[in-house]
Amino acid sequence: MEIHDDFLGTLGNTPLVALRRYHPTGALLAAKIEFFNPGSSVKDRIGIAMIEAAEREGKLRPGMTIVEPTSGNTGLGLAIAAILRGYKLICTAPSKIPKEKVAMLEAHGAKVVICPVDVDRDDPRSYTKTAERIRDEEGAFLPYQYFNQANPLAHYETTGPEIWRQTDGRVTHFVAGIGTGGTISGVARYLKEKNPEVRIVGVDPVGSVYTYYTQHGVLPSAEQLKLYLIDGIGQSYIPESYWPEFIDECVTVDDRTAYDAVYEIARTEGIFTGSSGGAAGFAAREVARRADPDDIVITLFPDSGERYLSKLNPDWLKEKGLAD
Ligand SMILES: Cc1ncc(COP(=O)(O)O)c(C=O)c1O
Repeated sequence: MEIHDDFLGTLGNTPLVALRRYHPTGALLAAKIEFFNPGSSVKDRIGIAMIEAAEREGKLRPGMTIVEPTSGNTGLGLAIAAILRGYKLICTAPSKIPKEKVAMLEAHGAKVVICPVDVDRDDPRSYTKTAERIRDEEGAFLPYQYFNQANPLAHYETTGPEIWRQTDGRVTHFVAGIGTGGTISGVARYLKEKNPEVRIVGVDPVGSVYTYYTQHGVLPSAEQLKLYLIDGIGQSYIPESYWPEFIDECVTVDDRTAYDAVYEIARTEGIFTGSSGGAAGFAAREVARRADPDDIVITLFPDSGERYLSKLNPDWLKEKGLAD
């Protein structure tokens, strides 16, 4: 019978879809649609991977609580794995987290602690420091996706091999947004081991550190860091989950461009991704425009726009200056 043992049995092997209407001529552009995963995002892959790694290392024992600072998707990936493995979950989240994600986490039995977004990450009120405090107070396990090598390794073991197999080894470029860097790092390492010529292009928002760091080898000054409206990608430091040695180039995308791309992709392809998918899709099309006609450019849509309907609507877009 074709019956999965549990919901995580449906993890991975997400489809690759050609974007021939969004990018009609030249190199083939295709997107890996990660909202086919059980919790509807790419982060389902690392939720179970980080839990299994901690169980193997003896850091997580039956009945323990897991606490994680998360903008939502990792929380849901962890929530599904925690339910199936019998753990409690607390998520600390920045206040810009859309209310749909909070409701989603709470529906899965997780506790959500909202923290201010406009404070330094070393500030005790920040969502990372709050998670550390809860870990210490409650003896909880903190997977910490930004430091956990099981994060990029999950993509080295699953996402990368899937892309290689699904393209018959013909992929020439991989273009993806960088949040923790787990997705791009793991995929890049796998693809480059298979073919060192595969070009890896990272995407982050204007005001984040990755592009500046890739170009200059140092972090930008505090004044160059800015808040942005794209969800899930960008950072103010270089985390250990990012493996810069496998990344060839990074590009920035501004908020307006990313949100415009969300709608252009939805209206040309019928694929409604979130703003990080919009940023990646736009950057990937630029790469495909410069690539040879025989090239195959793969991008990745981390989650669905449906998760952000409190933002992806005319009122919010106008309020933020993202629509005329
Ligand atoms: C919506 C969204 N897009 C993209 C990413 C980036 O993925 P990664 O953390 O693997 O770099 C994340 C990660 O938090 C995310 O939540």
